[in-house]
Amino acid sequence: MHTYSTQVGIIGGGPAGLLLSHLLHLSGVESVVCEARDEETIATTHRAGILEQASVELLRTAGLSHAVEANSHEHRGVYLRFSGRSHHLDFTELVGATVSLYAQNQLFTDLAEQRRRDGGTVLYETTVSDVQGLQETRPVIHARTVNGEEVRVECDFVIGADGSRSVARTLMPAAAEHRHSYPYAWFGFLVEAPPSADELIYTHSPQGFALVSQRSDTVQRMYFQCDPSENADEWSEDRIWSEMHARLAGDDDFALKTGPIISTTVLPFRSYVREPLRHGRLFLAGDAAHTVPPTGAKGLNLALHDAKILHEGLESFYRGGGSQGLESYSERALRRMWRVQSFSYWLTTLMHNPPGQDEFSNRRAAAELEAITSMGSGRRYLAESYTGWPHETW
Ligand code: PHB
Repeated sequence: MHTYSTQVGIIGGGPAGLLLSHLLHLSGVESVVCEARDEETIATTHRAGILEQASVELLRTAGLSHAVEANSHEHRGVYLRFSGRSHHLDFTELVGATVSLYAQNQLFTDLAEQRRRDGGTVLYETTVSDVQGLQETRPVIHARTVNGEEVRVECDFVIGADGSRSVARTLMPAAAEHRHSYPYAWFGFLVEAPPSADELIYTHSPQGFALVSQRSDTVQRMYFQCDPSENADEWSEDRIWSEMHARLAGDDDFALKTGPIISTTVLPFRSYVREPLRHGRLFLAGDAAHTVPPTGAKGLNLALHDAKILHEGLESFYRGGGSQGLESYSERALRRMWRVQSFSYWLTTLMHNPPGQDEFSNRRAAAELEAITSMGSGRRYLAESYTGWPHETW
């Protein structure tokens, strides 16, 4: 049995847990992180990759500028492609903001290295089974390492940042849960090829949605809408490319750059919200608290925002400023989350085709896209929502 005594016990070493641990360290507050997976698995699990402007600013103020400079690419807009043509939205011109392409697994690696450099305690392959004393002043996290050793983490506060299959969440009494399911999924793949465009291309077509994203000069990330029951192993490279070509076809000179496909997955879609995010001394953050569909890549940004405001509440508590910041955490986090949930839902339904879409629905969807991209108010709504609202106001 190994016992740790710390101030904040964090369940989950993904971006929310590690950023919170790092921010607490900067404020002189100790934490111990328990993460069920091994480091290599998290570092190689492909997730979305767009950071809102405020997320980039948060990472910079957290002293992670070196990682941001080295590993992100600033994009000043996106392309919306429909009816066979691409329409550019210039975020800088529309709302004076940009986003940054920064793969979530890369951000994880940066945060994990930073915690290591700072001597942080991150226990990988350590699975939490229970937390006791959530209504008392020193709760205890019970966990077990991959080698069977028992671990106890005694702390003042417990943070559940352990993703959409959260164990921490199950330790809370039944609270309100809200779910929405979507009748589609994304087929995601990585390809060895040069970028097909300078920025991301979100495509709507009668065959369904497609997204051309990027990772580096030599590796690209792409997705297309598929049925949630699809099995990625049943898709040959030819079949994948013919889907992509059909959806991106047009009468302009756009040419999709293809190459060997290096990994494939089917990503389910759902919206999920848990309310409130606090029970006694336990607080939920990131995907443990809420899930948004991947269109618009907001999940990581919400997780970073949760970490930021939890840190503010904890820092103020330890500086003797009282527990007001902790008491308002749930409401503040959920306020931004519902706004993001609403945008992600809107962008998802705007860009995808429900099964059995008829010609009326196709034409209506194209007309909505035409309206959004041609009206100043539509362009600004999309630009402002996609780049994200300042953390101070939302
Ligand atoms: C990605 O690059 O993986 C990505 C980008 C934008 C999205 C979703 C995923 O909306």
